[in-house]
Amino acid sequence: MYSIRLILSLLVVSWSSHALNIHDIFPEDVVREARLGEHNEDFGLNIIQFLEKYGYPIESHEVTTEDGYILTMHRIPHGRNETGILATSTKKPAVFLMHGLLCSSMDWVNAGPTRSLALNLADAGYDVWLGNNRGNTWSRKHVVLDPDVDKEFWDYSFDTCGYYDLPAEIDYVLNATGLEKLNYVGHSQGTSEFFALASLRPEYNEKITLMVALAPIAYMQNLTQPLVLFLANYTTLFDIVMEQLGIHEIFPSSPLLVEVLDILCREGSEYQDLCIDLIFFLTGPDMPQMDRSFMEVAISNTPAGISARMLSHYLQEIQSGYFRRYDYGLKNFEIYKQLSPPSYNVSLITSPVALYYARNDRLAAIYNVEQFASELPNLVMKNLIEFELFNHLDFLWATDVKTLVNDDVVALLNNHNHVS
Ligand SMILES: *[C@@H]1O[C@H](CO)[C@@H](O)[C@H](O)[C@H]1NC(C)=O
Ligand SMILES: *[C@@H]1O[C@H](CO)[C@@H](O)[C@H](O)[C@H]1NC(C)=O
Ligand SMILES: *[C@@H]1O[C@H](CO)[C@@H](O)[C@H](O)[C@H]1NC(C)=O
Ligand SMILES: *[C@@H]1O[C@H](CO)[C@@H](O)[C@H](O)[C@H]1NC(C)=O
Ligand SMILES: *[C@@H]1O[C@H](CO)[C@@H](O)[C@H](O)[C@H]1NC(C)=O
Repeated sequence: MYSIRLILSLLVVSWSSHALNIHDIFPEDVVREARLGEHNEDFGLNIIQFLEKYGYPIESHEVTTEDGYILTMHRIPHGRNETGILATSTKKPAVFLMHGLLCSSMDWVNAGPTRSLALNLADAGYDVWLGNNRGNTWSRKHVVLDPDVDKEFWDYSFDTCGYYDLPAEIDYVLNATGLEKLNYVGHSQGTSEFFALASLRPEYNEKITLMVALAPIAYMQNLTQPLVLFLANYTTLFDIVMEQLGIHEIFPSSPLLVEVLDILCREGSEYQDLCIDLIFFLTGPDMPQMDRSFMEVAISNTPAGISARMLSHYLQEIQSGYFRRYDYGLKNFEIYKQLSPPSYNVSLITSPVALYYARNDRLAAIYNVEQFASELPNLVMKNLIEFELFNHLDFLWATDVKTLVNDDVVALLNNHNHVS
């Protein structure tokens, strides 16, 4: 019973951090113990503090999209042991990494120097750029719209992120580095938006040396996550309820959300099993790859906020079985000049693409990944991760992610970039 109350509280906190107080959710002694108790030393650091702590160079860059969103990118120009002229003089290949749903640039690094793909790449000699989609902690800005006041700010899905955010970020990186092409690595939503971009603005394929898709999301009909499947049956109702409640933004980061999640997920917390069960329920159970001490680091910056429409677009994909643009219902004709939304033309995605997917991923079903792979015109390879229980988030933080995934990705990128 108490866990149901907790989960409901979490939902309320997710859209209105003012509606509740931490003491409404947890007993006094639990709150006190969490505040005074021991924490992982990385808990609460943001990406800049985190990378400084681990000795990596970090830069922030702002870029404005054609439609006025101001996005922050983070750059790790070189690895830990390169200094001075050596670090910048040679023309390094660039890798642009795009996070998944509810995540941010932080999720590419927070597992630390050994396990994080972005840090492995920086140490392997790449110029690493981390994107942040509109609406998340780092990109909650616009030249005229105010995200707290103007609901139009939240009128976007992965389609919009692919159409506007990625071109702005990719062009910025190419201009800043003087390179003609870059490598793209996406996780989950970071793959959907890439596929949207590459089909809607196919000229961008020319700017990609290699696209690496971790837990790729395009076709979604066969996903096995029960809650998401249930919601997908009520996609239209979901939109109406969100509109009626005036909820346009879901799970933005807030101090209260971080404190609630810290109490739930911190190692040593009496609730940690519930936290882990919740994560496993959403993504697929994998206890052998779970690092309990890392959980509170994971939740210090994540969830980082999305629009309600982002979720709605995904629910539409599950329901329709198509990989297609956002369904505006009666307004489709006005927007697309046809009654149903157009499908993304997969044959236009001509960038070389490598897919990494997993057997126990409840969101990216093997069948759907392979269905998509069979249509990609320039598939480099598909790699089904060996470890049976590997799940959707293991791509970011599994204890063995380096040997199971990252080493292979770095080798593949080296190969395509002629790095020895
Ligand atoms: C790079 O520096 C770190 C920290 O100083 C050190 O532990 C590591 O061995 C070094 N790596 C290389 C490849 O020199
Ligand atoms: C391209 O880069 C140059 C120098 O790095 C900079 O001065 C210029 O403003 C950049 N242009 C764009 C469109 O970002
Ligand atoms: C995928 O889902 C569709 C629709 O529910 C179903 O017809 C099909 O049999 C499923 N395929 C597999 C391999 O599960
Ligand atoms: C969704 O709807 C279909 C068809 O009505 C039904 O067979 C299925 O059980 C529903 N799924 C869930 C999770 O409610
Ligand atoms: C998709 O793109 C291919 C290649 O340009 C083209 O031949 C085909 O007609 C397009 N399909 C649709 C449905 O537009």
